[in-house]
Amino acid sequence: MSLEQYIRDIQGFPQEGILFKDITPLLASPNGREECLNLLLSTLKDKKIDKVVGVESRGFFFAILLADRLNAGFIPVRKPKKLPYDTISASYDLEYGKDTLEIHTDAIKKGDKVLIHDDVLATGGTAKAVCELVERLGGEIVQLNFLMELSFLNGREKLGKEEIFAAMTF
Ligand code: PRP
Ligand code: MG
Repeated sequence: MSLEQYIRDIQGFPQEGILFKDITPLLASPNGREECLNLLLSTLKDKKIDKVVGVESRGFFFAILLADRLNAGFIPVRKPKKLPYDTISASYDLEYGKDTLEIHTDAIKKGDKVLIHDDVLATGGTAKAVCELVERLGGEIVQLNFLMELSFLNGREKLGKEEIFAAMTF
């Protein structure tokens, strides 16, 4: 079964006119998860990742699986006021207004090789803010990977020269 078959289209969620890509069938399938994980890992051979940064909330699911298989640390990037220790934050633009993400100041050491993972690359605002957080802590971004990229939203253009890999492209 192709990976795309584990993604369910929901018309009109979360609002009218949006075609939402639902990853819950993929999460529910052990075979789907394994296939997706192996594809993501196939691009990371010999990259010696120290930390996998997962983005709250839908990025957490595969980030923890990746960290486990890479024998790397798992680092949560969270929405404001969720992390208990000292944090730095980065803001990014939404269609209307702004949002903020935070990371613990001791989560990444200077020179750590970092993989950033999220479920979807859409406009790229979220990923750009996460890159900023990792770079401010001195991390070396080896790759950003995603379960899927919505290529028609041109998120890649917002990002820098980082390597980007998506298991699926729509
Ligand atoms: C969604 C998705 C990505 C982000 C992608 O998260 O999970 O994190 O949007 O969009 P962008 O590329 O346009 O920034 P959302 O903020 O909806 O929250 P969630 O993961 O907690 O559901
Ligand atoms: Mg998200």
